[in-house]
Amino acid sequence: MSRIEPQPGIMEIELYVGGKATVEGVSDVVKLSSNENPYGCSDIAKEAVAKAGHNLHRYPNTDHASLRAAISEVHNLDADRIICGVGSDEILQFIAQCFAGPGDEVIYTEHGFSMYPILAHAVGATPVKVAERERVVDVDAILAACTDKTKIVFIANPANPTGTMVGSNEMARLASSLPDGAILVHDGAYTEYVEGFDGGAGLVDAQSNVIMTRTFSKIYGLGGLRIGWGYASKDIVDVLNRVRQPFNLSVVQMAVAEAAVRDQAFVKKCREDNARMRAWLAEALAELGVPSDTSCANFILARFSSREEAEACDDYLKTQGLIVRRTTGYDLANCLRITVGDEAGCRRVAHAIGKFKDGAR
Ligand SMILES: Cc1ncc(COP(=O)(O)O)c(C=O)c1O
Repeated sequence: MSRIEPQPGIMEIELYVGGKATVEGVSDVVKLSSNENPYGCSDIAKEAVAKAGHNLHRYPNTDHASLRAAISEVHNLDADRIICGVGSDEILQFIAQCFAGPGDEVIYTEHGFSMYPILAHAVGATPVKVAERERVVDVDAILAACTDKTKIVFIANPANPTGTMVGSNEMARLASSLPDGAILVHDGAYTEYVEGFDGGAGLVDAQSNVIMTRTFSKIYGLGGLRIGWGYASKDIVDVLNRVRQPFNLSVVQMAVAEAAVRDQAFVKKCREDNARMRAWLAEALAELGVPSDTSCANFILARFSSREEAEACDDYLKTQGLIVRRTTGYDLANCLRITVGDEAGCRRVAHAIGKFKDGAR
């Protein structure tokens, strides 16, 4: 039998490593490794789960009309230019699948979200990593790296795992300076944590080469349900819909996402609580000699003096039932990404890091 070979690029993929959820031998754990909402999801969303249970024998509708209408009302966007997916990951996958292939280049940045190079390899394209400036996306460096092969530029804003942001003017300059035919993906997974920020929607309206992606996994507290969406020109959405499976979202996913997006009071409360606890945690760690950049998201990137110190701290935190995220795979080996938990979680992690700094192992 002849050798069975996967498509070009597939074997280049380094498997995505998710945040750990358990520590062997420790029962009372606090998971601060996946940027989840420590308060869960809204009660209204939970009620929608129960109600949707009555319709499980029905196929879901294929056009997501009701969910798109709700998103469009809440965010004041054209419903015809919205596409929904299984997490924003699926929207990112559609974009790679539709707009890049062998011989094309996909740009992402030095500490960018680890799915970007995976998506490029998965479609046989070449991922091109561009340096950042002090953990902030550098628009000039991206423009310098563009070639006539560049098809997609992925930027999360706020970024994961750094928590830093690029200003709207810089994003607009990037979008308008990209080579012809290249798309800027404005990944807005953490948009809702930034008061008054539109997540790039205005840029999508101004520039036909921009796609915004959003998720229900973070502030909405629905990571377990897998729902995301994208907003782009009608032409781009039409292209993306061609590769979308007709029943990609279940009856439950759609009903719950619709209820969740309409509960903006919950989103506001979570944004405020996050901002308060994020400031508290960043200050508490800074006082312990662990600085971080000002974060615009629901995590902070705690910087230690060396890789060894970061790893030793992570090991100690685990013994205390505290699970945070190592960022070695993001070229940030001396850092740990810590999700902003509720007050008890933040106090517990700050206390444990204090003990570690005092020599506890
Ligand atoms: C920057 C960024 N984009 C996209 C995602 C994917 O989120 P989801 O597929 O859950 O919507 C994440 C999740 O961690 C993320 O951090």
